Amino acid sequence: MKRKTDKQATLAVHAGDRKKLGEFTPTTTPIYATSSFFYESSEDLEKVFNDEKEGNVYSRYGNPTVSAFEDQVAVLEGADYAVATASGMAAIHMAVLGGLLDRRKSIVAADVLYGQTTALLQKVFEPFGVETRYADPCDLAAFEATVVKAQPGCIIVESISNPLLRVPALDKIADIAQRHGAQLIVDATFTTPVLSRPLELGVDIVVHSATKYLSGHGDTMGGIILGRQDTYPTINYLRKTIGPNASPFDSYLAMRGVKTLSLRMEKQCRNAALVARQLAECSAIERVYFPGNPDHPDYETCVRLFPEGLFGAMVSFDLAGGRERVLAFLDALEMTVPATSLGDVQSMALYPAMSSHRDLAPKHRQRLGIGDGLVRLSVGIEDASDIIGDIVQAVERSETVVAQSATDQRSGS
Ligand SMILES: Cc1ncc(COP(=O)(O)O)c(C=O)c1O
Repeated sequence: MKRKTDKQATLAVHAGDRKKLGEFTPTTTPIYATSSFFYESSEDLEKVFNDEKEGNVYSRYGNPTVSAFEDQVAVLEGADYAVATASGMAAIHMAVLGGLLDRRKSIVAADVLYGQTTALLQKVFEPFGVETRYADPCDLAAFEATVVKAQPGCIIVESISNPLLRVPALDKIADIAQRHGAQLIVDATFTTPVLSRPLELGVDIVVHSATKYLSGHGDTMGGIILGRQDTYPTINYLRKTIGPNASPFDSYLAMRGVKTLSLRMEKQCRNAALVARQLAECSAIERVYFPGNPDHPDYETCVRLFPEGLFGAMVSFDLAGGRERVLAFLDALEMTVPATSLGDVQSMALYPAMSSHRDLAPKHRQRLGIGDGLVRLSVGIEDASDIIGDIVQAVERSETVVAQSATDQRSGS
């Protein structure tokens, strides 16, 4: 695109695409299903190997479809580079490896992270001698005290925590990381570049599960790592030596998804605000967690760091009655999909105690505030009245189901 703009909605549709292919230019980047590439002369191949000439040699090192997706997201994030991976977990694994490679082999992590990220730190890095200390990134004094004690090589936090939706002040965490010489990695899956561009706040590395909002249609898996030039050699070297690459097919789908990211994200955020407001009126819902509620502890941080009126598209709530009631609620949903993902066009509901945080001991879960009645909603792009109607009817029906089951038990049937 020749036109100069910094508008995300425009960049998402044009960035990465329309590279000239011989005599013509494809409107959208095709799927290059090839493992290797060759040139008229070996001299040219040598130049591509040496980064003296643009091109590709082998798809583990780079592939035109994958590069187009990487260029698209790099532009949206204001990054110098992006490296796409096969999943969000592959991106997190590679980012942590990169953060530790030339640094102290210790980590400070947010105390609430996606369950598999915590498992990666505890069950994969720890056996290699990498100790992780955990702290609340929304309590800056306590977080810094942990950093001082641990002197970590890298720090990892999420831009909106899962499932309690706390929002750390990334600019202040970046300041702490910088003062103590640690590389700061932020999993920005829940915010996307529509809500936040963490590299501009001083964060070193951003990762996304592209499986979620970026692709947005529940039809592909992917991850992406983004950074500034100083981290590129390490991350690119790890891409070549470890090979966690995204496939051209998945990159094609993810790129297609990103073109509508700002449309979807804005609609989903606005729907989430309406859903959160309505759920607060339900007597069976004991507490609603939504960063856009003025009584949310991180409301001011969101107002300071996010675009006006956007607070993310996730809403969590505590349903009175615990596990039995939550399971009855999930079974009563008529439209919202009770599946283990988020960020898709359709609304989705998840029970953290059974899925994303099932590996945590019940006591640990309770200590983190993840109770037996906690439900996490990923609000989709449907009409808000349908989402609200479905959730409210499922809350009401779940009460009847639980009451009936209690009556049956009493009567021994
Ligand atoms: C915040 C967050 N980060 C990372 C991941 C892992 O992503 P993937 O499933 O693409 O590996 C998830 C998955 O749910 C997630 O919620």
